[in-house]
Amino acid sequence: MADSDTYLRQPWRTVHGIPMVSAFALNWEKVDSFQACPEDIVVVTFPKSGTTWVSEIVDMVLKGGDPEKCKQDDIVNRVPMMEFAAPGKMAAGSRVAEGGTEQLEAMPSPRIIKTHIPAHVLPKSFWEKRCKMIYVGRNAKDVAVSYYHFDLMNKFHPHPGTWAQYLEEFMAGRVAYGSWYNHVKGYWERRKDHPILYLFYEDLKENLHREIAKVAQFLGQKLSEGAVDTIARHTSFEAMRDNPATNYSKVPSDLMDHGVSPFMRKGTTGDWKNHFTVAQNERFDQDYVQKMSDTDLCFRTQI
Ligand code: PPS
Repeated sequence: MADSDTYLRQPWRTVHGIPMVSAFALNWEKVDSFQACPEDIVVVTFPKSGTTWVSEIVDMVLKGGDPEKCKQDDIVNRVPMMEFAAPGKMAAGSRVAEGGTEQLEAMPSPRIIKTHIPAHVLPKSFWEKRCKMIYVGRNAKDVAVSYYHFDLMNKFHPHPGTWAQYLEEFMAGRVAYGSWYNHVKGYWERRKDHPILYLFYEDLKENLHREIAKVAQFLGQKLSEGAVDTIARHTSFEAMRDNPATNYSKVPSDLMDHGVSPFMRKGTTGDWKNHFTVAQNERFDQDYVQKMSDTDLCFRTQI
């Protein structure tokens, strides 16, 4: 079994043309050949866009809004990340050492599956089985800031360098899962011919009750107002930050160092204003207009 240190702070590897976490890339054929079930529910996002938040909402909805049931196990077990792999290292709190595909294969249906894989690389089986997908988009500036802090604390990723260096990498798509711009546009297009509920982090911040009701309706679950209230309380930033089943605090610090930056960091919209210089913001905006000129997809950078 490989030593986990082999995978820490390693450069990205390339998978189907996109940069990928070194440890995840090694057994990618398991991802490519993954067999979906028609009842699977896929929570898919570009990293740092609200995956954990919406995963917890979906699990709460399926469990009828009962927080006690969701507290019984860690989010990494209730909603496994399909492409996750830590050869030789037990993922914190995870019952399965080797990876997400094995973990999912052992789970009963309906499974909730987390992934960050872009639409054109997502295993074919999910499209063929017409699995329901919930996509969460978040504005690029807040994603870049959140991702930078994540790369500082998550040793599975290369060290991001300075913020100025990192921002260039982000804009060029030289971060894990590649271009944010292509990712958000890819699923936006696919929603025209596939059951995809496309949510926005900023909408969740603005009106969590409304977005939870959208999720429940999409999943065909009838929930009382009281149940929606309970889910909203249970999935507030403060509640998830303080909940050991959702805050990733059980991940060993040699993998994720919450002392550098906690996984549940700020949970706000507009933190980018504390990080972008005026010049960085202008350059980012100019580049953004070009990269997003071929879509009607719009994001809010403040609410
Ligand atoms: S990951 O590693 O890609 O799965 O991360 P992901 O869960 O997609 O994103 C992490 C960011 O989401 C914030 N977060 C929340 N914000 C508001 N409310 C709730 N309940 C919530 N849960 C997670 C988390 O704090 C990260 O954002 P930043 O901006 O870094 O705080």
